[in-house]
Amino acid sequence: MRFTLRLSAIVLSAVVLVNAAGPIPKKEFEKNKALGLRLLNIELGKYVWRTEFEKFDVMRTNKGFFDVTDVYDPEEDDFKPALVKGEMGVTAVSAFPSGPTRQNVIQPVINTLAIANLQTYVANLTSFNNRYYRSQTGAQASQWILDTVNSIAALNPSVGATGAFFNNTFVQPSIIATIPGKTNGPITILGAHMDSVNQANPTNGRAPGADDDASGSADLLETFRALVVAGFKPSTPVEFHWYAGEEGGLLGSQAIAQSYKRAGKQVKAMLQLDMTAYTKPGTKEVVAFLPDYIDSTLNTFLESLVDEYLSIPWAISPACGYACSDHASWNRQGFPSSMPFETPFGTDNPQIHTTGDTTTVNGFSWTHMLEYAKLGVAYAYELAA
Ligand code: BES
Ligand code: ZN
Repeated sequence: MRFTLRLSAIVLSAVVLVNAAGPIPKKEFEKNKALGLRLLNIELGKYVWRTEFEKFDVMRTNKGFFDVTDVYDPEEDDFKPALVKGEMGVTAVSAFPSGPTRQNVIQPVINTLAIANLQTYVANLTSFNNRYYRSQTGAQASQWILDTVNSIAALNPSVGATGAFFNNTFVQPSIIATIPGKTNGPITILGAHMDSVNQANPTNGRAPGADDDASGSADLLETFRALVVAGFKPSTPVEFHWYAGEEGGLLGSQAIAQSYKRAGKQVKAMLQLDMTAYTKPGTKEVVAFLPDYIDSTLNTFLESLVDEYLSIPWAISPACGYACSDHASWNRQGFPSSMPFETPFGTDNPQIHTTGDTTTVNGFSWTHMLEYAKLGVAYAYELAA
């Protein structure tokens, strides 16, 4: 009893002490981290400490945050430069081709993309009770993705594609598949998050996450499969990332983006596919580009690919208004990233984070989802070939 009281008093004073804007002093950082608290970056320059339990409440009430506990360096605060590059995290620091140039080789590869494969991938991913980043089934889902990546790589060994885990501080690893280039960089990245969450009961609740984000995860697998089978041997490497712990505050993507930055790796671009299957019945079907936490030059390039290779037009979405998916982790480290979303923000799938995020939702569309795999193939080919 006494001990509990004292401990909560310490926790409380720690929370009060550093619940302030600006960099966190090293001493405070280490003390609170050792107590098991999580450091959340809610908005530009604003950090708060929360317990794991309180973090769920932030997830339910606040919209979006970076959980930076595993990547924060109190001696460096390496997030600052990327964050001040542009308003709302919009960067435009890169040069991309003015439009598509490889229609002759790309269209035949796009023609090999198959809805039946997307269905198999989504069926497997949604068969886990949930893909929560702190649950055993969440770890098993990572293993299934790595196994699938390896079996796809084996379909055409001449390409030399490989798969690997990127381990985290929690049980669920992220997965990285690589199609090697003739040189080591800069890297062209496609990302999706492989975790899912039942917001009412994160640890044990059923969270099929068919749209959020089995859809993007399956698009990546099918894009990878089509490129490997086509014998794609690019000049520069292409990587496919399935991020763990996105729902816990962009955990998996922040760890990888920070490690690439620190290793001095060059990144040509990062394309995030998070929710690609739902289009609201009665509205116009589009690919909706998010306008915040992205690189505007990359958006313009991707729009030209939609015009050339997809069967539906693009639109600019209203802003998420916060760091709502893994593209924001790359943007934060100063790398160009974009997120083409399923619908304009606000008309997206109402069932996410519940037991109802399944393929039988009215508006869930396999043909819509296929469009994003087409974009994935075009993006990888046009940037890296
Ligand atoms: N897929 C969602 C993000 C999303 C939802 C974008 C609806 C646009 C419309 C993502 O998996 C998610 O839930 N993100 C969290 C933030 C995250 C940092 C915990 C969110 O949006 O609350
Ligand atoms: Zn998501």
